[in-house]
Amino acid sequence: MVLLSPNSHLSKSLIIATCLISYTCGNIPESDDEDNEPETKKERTVEPTVYNASYGNDSSQQIADYYYPTTIEVDKTTHVIILIHGGAWSGGQKSDMEICVPFLREAFPSFLIVNMDYRLGTWSSPGYPKQIKDVQNLITFIRNRIVGSRPASNNATELKFTLLGGSAGAHLALLYSYKYNTAGHVKVVVDVVGPVDFTDPAYTLNPVYNYIAFPLVGPRLFILNPKPYFASSPSHRLREKLRKEEIPYKIVMFDGGHFYDWSEEDKQKLKDETVLFLKKHFK
Ligand SMILES: *[C@@H]1O[C@H](CO)[C@@H](O)[C@H](O)[C@H]1NC(C)=O
Ligand SMILES: *[C@@H]1O[C@H](CO)[C@@H](O)[C@H](O)[C@H]1NC(C)=O
Ligand SMILES: *[C@@H]1O[C@H](CO)[C@@H](O)[C@H](O)[C@H]1NC(C)=O
Repeated sequence: MVLLSPNSHLSKSLIIATCLISYTCGNIPESDDEDNEPETKKERTVEPTVYNASYGNDSSQQIADYYYPTTIEVDKTTHVIILIHGGAWSGGQKSDMEICVPFLREAFPSFLIVNMDYRLGTWSSPGYPKQIKDVQNLITFIRNRIVGSRPASNNATELKFTLLGGSAGAHLALLYSYKYNTAGHVKVVVDVVGPVDFTDPAYTLNPVYNYIAFPLVGPRLFILNPKPYFASSPSHRLREKLRKEEIPYKIVMFDGGHFYDWSEEDKQKLKDETVLFLKKHFK
C-alpha cells in the first residue's frame, strides 16, 4: 500500500476509518463581538462569526467559515482546526461539516475552527493537485493574518493546525499532511472514512472506483496510466509506516457505512475519540 514522504514533519496523527480501504481577501475576517463586553463574549453560541470569507481568487469556491474562539482573543489563538468536506472531489460543500463544529467548540473553546470550501474537481480540471493547493492557500492565508497581526514579541508562538476531513476531504487531509506539510504547520490529521491508497487492487480492479476517481485525477484508467494514482495516494502501508516512524496514531474501526449512515452511538464514539486524541496530542 503506502509511502510516507521522508520530509514529512507530521508529528502526530490520528486515523479514524471504517476500514483502511474504506476507502477576503484583504483582511482576516474579524470577530463581530464588541471588545469591551466580556459578558457578551461568554454568551457566544455556536453561531459562526464569519461566513463565506474568501481565501483565494475564486470567490465562489475558495471560501471558508470562521468560528472564533469563545474564551480568548483571536490573535492569541495558537490552535486551528480546519474542516474539509467530502463529496468524491467533485461535490459536497462545507455545510456538510457543520456537524463537527459544536462538539469541537465545546471541547476546545480557545481554538479557531475553520470550515473550508475548495475548488471542486471535474474531468477537465481534476481536483489533484488544485485541492491540495487550496489547503495550502488557506493555511497560508490564516497564518499571514493571525501570526502577521501579532506583536513581534509574540513571534515565537506558532500556529498549529489540525486537518479534519470526511471521505474525499479525509483523503485531502491525509495527502496534504503526509506529502505537502513541509513547513510542519499541520500537527494532527483526522481521517474519517477517507481512502488512502488508490493503487490498491480493491480500487484499481473496480471500474466503479476508477470512475469515481476521475474528478480527482482526470479521465484516466489506472491500468493505462497509474502515475496520477500513485501521486495522489497519501501513503502505502500506512499503519506499518506510522508505527515505524513512531508517529502516534489511532485507528478506530466502525462497522461499515460512510459516517452519515452510522448509528448515533457510532457518531458519538467518533466525536469522543476525536476529542480524546486531540486533547492528548494537540497541545
Ligand atoms: C454562504 O454561501 C452559501 C452558498 O452561496 C449561502 O447559501 C449562504 O447563505 C451564505 N451564508 C451567509 C451567512 O451569507
Ligand atoms: C490569484 O491570482 C493571482 C493573479 O493571477 C495570482 O498571482 C495568485 O497566486 C492567485 N492567488 C491564489 C491564492 O491562487
Ligand atoms: C516576526 O515575524 C515577522 C513576520 O514573519 C517578521 O517580519 C519579524 O521580523 C519578526 N520579528 C522578530 C522580532 O523576530
